[in-house]
Amino acid sequence: MAFLAPSESLHQAMQQHDLTGNEHGYFVYDLDLLASHLNKLQQQDVVKLWYAVKANPLSKVVETMAQSGIQFDVASRGELAQVLAQNVPSSKVLNTGPAKSKAQIGEFLSVGVNTFVVESINQLRWLQEAAVEQGKSPRALLRVQLRWPEGEKNPLGGNSLTPFGLGTDEWSEITAADFPAVELCGLHIFQWGNMLSNAKMFELWSQMVAPLVSLANAVGFELKVLDLGGGLGVDYLGQGQGIDWQTAVGDLAKIKESAGVEELWLELGRYAVAECGYYVTDIIDCKTNFGEQQLVLAAGINHLLRPAITDQPFPAALLRSATNKKVQSEISESTSDTQHFHIHGPLCTSMDCLGVLPLPADVEVGDKLMFSFAGAYGFTESMPLFLCHEVAAEYVFTEQEGMVCVRAAQPASWYLR
Ligand SMILES: Cc1ncc(COP(=O)(O)O)c(C=O)c1O
Repeated sequence: MAFLAPSESLHQAMQQHDLTGNEHGYFVYDLDLLASHLNKLQQQDVVKLWYAVKANPLSKVVETMAQSGIQFDVASRGELAQVLAQNVPSSKVLNTGPAKSKAQIGEFLSVGVNTFVVESINQLRWLQEAAVEQGKSPRALLRVQLRWPEGEKNPLGGNSLTPFGLGTDEWSEITAADFPAVELCGLHIFQWGNMLSNAKMFELWSQMVAPLVSLANAVGFELKVLDLGGGLGVDYLGQGQGIDWQTAVGDLAKIKESAGVEELWLELGRYAVAECGYYVTDIIDCKTNFGEQQLVLAAGINHLLRPAITDQPFPAALLRSATNKKVQSEISESTSDTQHFHIHGPLCTSMDCLGVLPLPADVEVGDKLMFSFAGAYGFTESMPLFLCHEVAAEYVFTEQEGMVCVRAAQPASWYLR
């Protein structure tokens, strides 16, 4: 496990923060850390960065992204509304997603979204029709799926059949000239998530170039833009691997040159935002069961679903505050040896397990756990409604203002009717 420790001041703020009343779990995002990370990502002129809003659509996160100059990949009406509500101009938005209806495409176009990743021939037709109806000239990238000889499977599909775009044979049946109101400017490809090796990523990107260049020729348009999606990974399992940004930028420069494109794009989710976030919840019960140590938390997959669908726990550490009356010492750090604990949530399913993680052996009721890398695919990827527990709170942290509540925890009566 590789727990990523928060800054000292955020750690102190979390220690002082009591979970009370309706609040049994909260997310906190370190916006100073996020801003400096984004600044590092932007120190290059090889790749244009978009933020995949699905990773974390919180207003303050979107605002911090916008301040860094990164633009926005939205995949639903809700994400578009959230981005526009933070005063992002619609010209800085692109629209991806396999379930774009004709009505949705028309709505996005009418509010000024001008860049679409089309994932089917229907979507391209509907974009053409909406463009004619509205007298607009949107640009579009075709989303492509490729197959590799020794492909593997992962959440984005890898080599398996997915609804994300079409194969080159299917796209080859269209002709760019049949869609005169749409500027076909590029191709989009994204099939592997959470990659942890620069070498492997570069190998995959490299293998995409030849088939994509020939597809653009076959369809009859100039390949000006290549969008390689996201997929830059985070080392949840502490395997000592990870994507080095400078190396990735060097590799991308080679891809850009070999594809002969004017622009290379990435839509970063996890790599942009995971590290700035923490999730904190109470330990409600501790027990030994069949010789194994179990901790039961106030919230589990109702606040943090990802471990149950990927088998990758978020790394965790003990958060012991002086307010835990059962702890005698004023000092809140445990010095005890670690042992492995099965970490469970409150739901009535064995799926509600956040992993088997090493923690200090003296962990006890009243302590809290903090999970790192929870800035991406946390709050909005969870299943908060089951069993009517509370919806988690979300905070942001800066050195200047400390922890500020963006949305308080909400009881089930908030959504139950
Ligand atoms: C179209 C698209 N782009 C970008 C991303 C972001 O991926 P990641 O979080 O791996 O960077 C996703 C995630 O599912 C996606 O669907």
